[in-house]
Amino acid sequence: MNIVVIGAQWGDEGKGKIVDFLAGDAAAIVRYAGGANAGHTIVLGAEQYALHLVPSGILYPGKRVFLGSGMVIDPEALFAELGALKERGIDWEGRALISDRAHIVLPRYREIDKERDAGRKKPIGTTGRGIGVTYSLKSDRDGIRVADLLWEEKMRDLEPSDRDFLARYRDKLLAMSTDMAVEMRRLRGQNVLLEGAQGTLLDLDLGTYPFVSSGMSSAAGAAVGAGIGPGAIDAVIGVFKAYSTRVGNGPMPSEFDEGADSALCAFVRETGREYGVTTGRPRRCGYLDLVALRYACAVNSMDALALTHLDIYDTLDEVEACVAYRIGGRETTDFPASVEALSQAQPVLRKFPGWKRPLKKCRSFESLPQRARDYVAFIEDYTETPVGIVSVGYERGETIIRRNPWQTKR
Ligand code: IMP
Repeated sequence: MNIVVIGAQWGDEGKGKIVDFLAGDAAAIVRYAGGANAGHTIVLGAEQYALHLVPSGILYPGKRVFLGSGMVIDPEALFAELGALKERGIDWEGRALISDRAHIVLPRYREIDKERDAGRKKPIGTTGRGIGVTYSLKSDRDGIRVADLLWEEKMRDLEPSDRDFLARYRDKLLAMSTDMAVEMRRLRGQNVLLEGAQGTLLDLDLGTYPFVSSGMSSAAGAAVGAGIGPGAIDAVIGVFKAYSTRVGNGPMPSEFDEGADSALCAFVRETGREYGVTTGRPRRCGYLDLVALRYACAVNSMDALALTHLDIYDTLDEVEACVAYRIGGRETTDFPASVEALSQAQPVLRKFPGWKRPLKKCRSFESLPQRARDYVAFIEDYTETPVGIVSVGYERGETIIRRNPWQTKR
């Protein structure tokens, strides 16, 4: 069975935790998009791990993880991350593998990325990791793939500094390189978890373009990025937080108002630890945006949702969520393509009574307070998608499973 886990918002939804949880029943985990712009945090007891390139499944001893064809890989960042894992006793040799079709990020792309963004009239606020540069070179057909390290003529034609850089990592990368078409064929009939990065609203095609990343972070990208056809995807799970966050620039219709909502914003940011794992930037925070979430469910053909950070709202008297946009005097529940329309959109909020009880210890859906269950039921109705997993804390065990995706057939 192949299950895709994707972000249903602007990234940072808590995918790392859900992937880590589902990885327990997977024979292999494939990350299929993005690069070192991502940041996945996983808490295991007293230990906290921040992963950028390596799939979260690496924390399970012995499990095989793949960096898929849809990824862009910065060798310096990759080996720094693997080195740090090794120091903490996580053995990766022989079980962390890279698609030979994945593209390589050169160090100078990071500077180009930053310069290009600074030169934009409206900067995107990239992570400065060279992601956009690598993906554009890929589209231009001027990129460098892992397989190209064996292509002598191509290597010879590179700038000397690029060639020297690649020569330093050549053997290490080739030792990890593999053909994903072959690997996925061999894995047929076993459980494979396809791990997304970023989120639907940062997807190059489906997101709030141009304020997006450059990879295919949506469910469709999972097939290409892993080396299978879309028909081989058995389920798509979308992860979303009980509120919204966004890093970088671009429209965010349900963003907390700087004046009226400043206390709520500070509370959510501190309680939810809403600071970027990759850049340390404070994340923009806002109400749960159900208009955007329903759009994400539709464009990814989402089978189920995983709700995270519900416990952040434990102490609030009232919880609010955005159920429509008001744009130029008209109300809509459809997510517009136009960045101008999205920037003008005013959130129409609906209030829900707070549950005012800690959720951390709840281990079944029935043990959640009725008001929390009502909030979840409203989300399910609105998005027409079941909420199969509810996370009530950072720890691996602080998770309620209503539908185990590995045991749920479409
Ligand atoms: P880039 O991917 O570095 O080009 O950045 C493009 C946009 O995507 C910026 O607004 C980033 O802040 C955002 N972004 C990229 N990766 C992530 C992520 O993993 N989480 C949240 N935002 C991200």
